[in-house]
Amino acid sequence: MTDIIDGDAVAAELRSDLRASIETLADAGVRPGLATVLMSDDPASETYVSMKQRDCEEVGIEGIHVEIDPDAPAEELYDTVADLNADPEVHGVLVQMPVPDHVDDREVVRAVDPQKDVDGFHPENVGRLVAGNPRFKPCTPHGVQKLLDAADVETEGADVTILGRSDIVGKPLANLLVQKTDLGNATVTLCHSRTEDLPAKTRDADVVVAAAGVPEMIDGSMLAEGAVVVDVGINRVEADTDKGYELVGDVEFDSAEEKASAITPVPGGVGPMTRAMLLYNTVAAASRQTGVDVELP
Ligand code: GUN
Repeated sequence: MTDIIDGDAVAAELRSDLRASIETLADAGVRPGLATVLMSDDPASETYVSMKQRDCEEVGIEGIHVEIDPDAPAEELYDTVADLNADPEVHGVLVQMPVPDHVDDREVVRAVDPQKDVDGFHPENVGRLVAGNPRFKPCTPHGVQKLLDAADVETEGADVTILGRSDIVGKPLANLLVQKTDLGNATVTLCHSRTEDLPAKTRDADVVVAAAGVPEMIDGSMLAEGAVVVDVGINRVEADTDKGYELVGDVEFDSAEEKASAITPVPGGVGPMTRAMLLYNTVAAASRQTGVDVELP
């Protein structure tokens, strides 16, 4: 039997544990605040940001949302971020990526106060992560770690193959999994578009993490019998549905499920964990900025 790893359930438990930390902060007169900034009219980005705001409301985090016209000058975005950095009621600042082409995304991540950088994208926070002393673990990689832990998948000594070298998922996940920590100590192979003989790399792995953004690029023939498969992909592909599309992962689920010992579905796998870890980072940020200690799950 293949274990279908239920990200919705693991994320719900995490949110429930976080509510206790949020109550501790409330008892001390602190309400965590998360600001989301959207400078895009991409429907998927709009959906992600509105889901993040809904999550905040549900757990008792103050959500602040700012929309900026995608055609506005970049300075408008930097000014907004500067205002949020200076606002003591705002503990976390997230600029939804991607930003328009005329805005330099590296400047954007540098503009966010590293203490409020709940994405963990600021170079100072990336450096700390690589050095093994993270301030904020980026949400998707941290969510993948928590999901593996909840599914009792041991990373210590495991061969993990990651597909995709993005700054948001692949690179930080590789860094987290090689660290000398409970959810680390793995041997990581980080693959990308120029990797030769990808199937050999995935077939060698105890755990395959697909984060390439290519619909259904991994199938069962590329997996070892009993592999654990984590699908980070959320791809909109045209389909004969009411919305005109459906969501598929980077993994061809049916054939992969036949080989895997455990697998995450799309939707309902990594996605809800990413959202839960954003709440986690916001609570951690509020705790650090106010000096009110809380236990984090
Ligand atoms: N766009 C896609 N994923 C993310 C994320 O985790 N954070 C931000 N800020 N933008 C994204």
